[in-house]
Amino acid sequence: MSESLPFDEYKTPIANLLEVRRRSIDDLEGFWDEKARALHWFKTWDKVLDDSNPPFYKWFVGGVTNISYNALDVHMDSWRKNKAAYIWESEEGTIKTLTYLELYREVNKFAKVLKDLGVKKGDRVTIYLPMVPELPISLLATVRLGAMHSVVFSGFSSSALADRINDAESKILITSDGGYRRGKYIPIKEWADEALKNTDTIEKVIVVRRTGKEVNMVEGRDYYYDELMSKVSESTYIPPEPMKAEDPLFILYTSGTTGKPKGVQHSVGGYMVWAYWTLKWAFDPKEDDIWWCSADIGWITGHTYIVYAPLMHGLTGIMYDGAPNYPAPDRVWEIIERHRVTILYTSPTLIRMLMGYGDEYVLEHDLSSLRVLGSVGEPINPEAWKWYYTVVGKERCPIIDTWWQTETGGFMITPARGISLVPLKPGSATFPLPGIDAEVVDEDGNPAKVGERGYLIIKKPWPGMLQTLWKDPDRYKEVYFSRYPGAYYTGDYCIKDEDGYFWLLGRADEVLKVAGHRIGTMELESAIVSHPAVSEAAVVAKPDPIKMEVPVAFVVLTSGYEPSEELANEIKKYVAKSMGPIARPDSIFFVASLPKTRSGKIMRRLLKAVILGKPLGDITTLEDAASVEAIKKAYEEFKKAVGGA
Ligand code: PRX
Repeated sequence: MSESLPFDEYKTPIANLLEVRRRSIDDLEGFWDEKARALHWFKTWDKVLDDSNPPFYKWFVGGVTNISYNALDVHMDSWRKNKAAYIWESEEGTIKTLTYLELYREVNKFAKVLKDLGVKKGDRVTIYLPMVPELPISLLATVRLGAMHSVVFSGFSSSALADRINDAESKILITSDGGYRRGKYIPIKEWADEALKNTDTIEKVIVVRRTGKEVNMVEGRDYYYDELMSKVSESTYIPPEPMKAEDPLFILYTSGTTGKPKGVQHSVGGYMVWAYWTLKWAFDPKEDDIWWCSADIGWITGHTYIVYAPLMHGLTGIMYDGAPNYPAPDRVWEIIERHRVTILYTSPTLIRMLMGYGDEYVLEHDLSSLRVLGSVGEPINPEAWKWYYTVVGKERCPIIDTWWQTETGGFMITPARGISLVPLKPGSATFPLPGIDAEVVDEDGNPAKVGERGYLIIKKPWPGMLQTLWKDPDRYKEVYFSRYPGAYYTGDYCIKDEDGYFWLLGRADEVLKVAGHRIGTMELESAIVSHPAVSEAAVVAKPDPIKMEVPVAFVVLTSGYEPSEELANEIKKYVAKSMGPIARPDSIFFVASLPKTRSGKIMRRLLKAVILGKPLGDITTLEDAASVEAIKKAYEEFKKAVGGA
């Protein structure tokens, strides 16, 4: 099924694409009315888009569906039921295949388990699991009942888990007896228990056996997954709950510019349609593709492109539970060769890391199965792009650089193989997809000049957009729709070049991108300040050759504490424990005071200039100019002495 191009095929690929997009935007409702019919609905919609109360848009109003039906049930009447839905490989080397029929059965059985534990439509289920098959099973079983999942990345700490459980008021937690990373046991159940000390909504805990290690089980609260499942008959069928298109489907927390993570809420109908079409447009997957999205399901990339979209397309997906460079730097290439992966979708951080090991690891493996390569999470630098294209893809595979966000539900700006593949430019995500009215604007909202950096905004609603922030509609309006009234503000810098290509340049706000993960500076600062030795902290991003950015913290100590390398290490450890290892500061610098404006705002811009050794620029609003000089001096001294600890 390729997007038909009912017009003159002598046009250039760019003109073709722009024409499809122009038509879609001119008639947004007509366009989506047709597209949404590719999926199964118990009842079709009365209205495609209700925009009577912006920015709270409703898609496919009156429509009734269930995404688990479209991911599973639709395949049960065809030969696809015996096709592999997932090929799972563990770090230790165990390989398991789950067919669509097996997945369907597991999901129905687990939906029964959840139902018997009291889960019903609208309830929240928190899922804190490593990359095991029970993870997609849990998502699908939850939404089959019309409940909402809130997946928390299993590398997150207990306090991050507790915050997310409390905000979502979840009544069930699904977790595991542990995990493995680089051969090391990860005590996931212990972290979950720790989190449960600070939450009071969880009634039952379901524990998946991943390691077989003995873990603490609380009588009457904790149950093993396999024991609950063994009591349910193999042929159990739980009818998918008929859901209104505008009902919420799931919450996924992500970092923003203020202290608290935001609960991004996606819709049943709009998200489903968007997930389906974006995968089709960008990658144009075929029946015999072996799709490997190497993200973790704890992030939006995994939600949309490991679970929902590939299953709706009936694809075979790889799930890998382990470190990509363990036990050797060629693990990724080995997996591709072993399973004859045809599409690899991964992050620039991983590409740069693997590039750093040298070409020989790639060349040792037969990667001839690969047809298409994808990238996500951060801007891909041209050097990494070229390496990916030549060494990995042997100049045969287009690079599909997908720009999008947790909030957008699916790809937004990306080459669209399934429509009209435009000539690629290393480092540009090319053009917005159909239905996406994107623009680069200046501070005042006027279109930025060609080649000039501005802010990326989206001027019209699209089906995959978040509905709101969980329990916080005011913050939703404030964060995304207040800066440029009527338009969605992405928070990203962007340039449009002379050919109309979009070049995404990273965050324009105080959100860091560390190895593709979003970390809010304020969230990190509040974690640092909660250490008893710290009275104030400011975090800025330092460029990093592999991870793109790493957090660097400037810290003012509470009186009575002395700066030392030990204390810096202790604060780093403390942050890793409270937020998770990805948030661990790369360096900590002790300073006597932080540069602030007269109104008391920390001038992070100046700290960044100090780190980059750049001119400080305008400092007229600075309350105490001496503080920057002192910081510069402290920074230089630290660099010389302890190397920034
Ligand atoms: O800054 C952009 C960057 O990642 C941000 C969204 O992060 P998150 O919600 O965690 O979702 C990541 C996976 C979709 C964006 O605001 N970003 C993501 N993909 C790209 C990108 N920047 C440049 N190019 C990309 N392909």
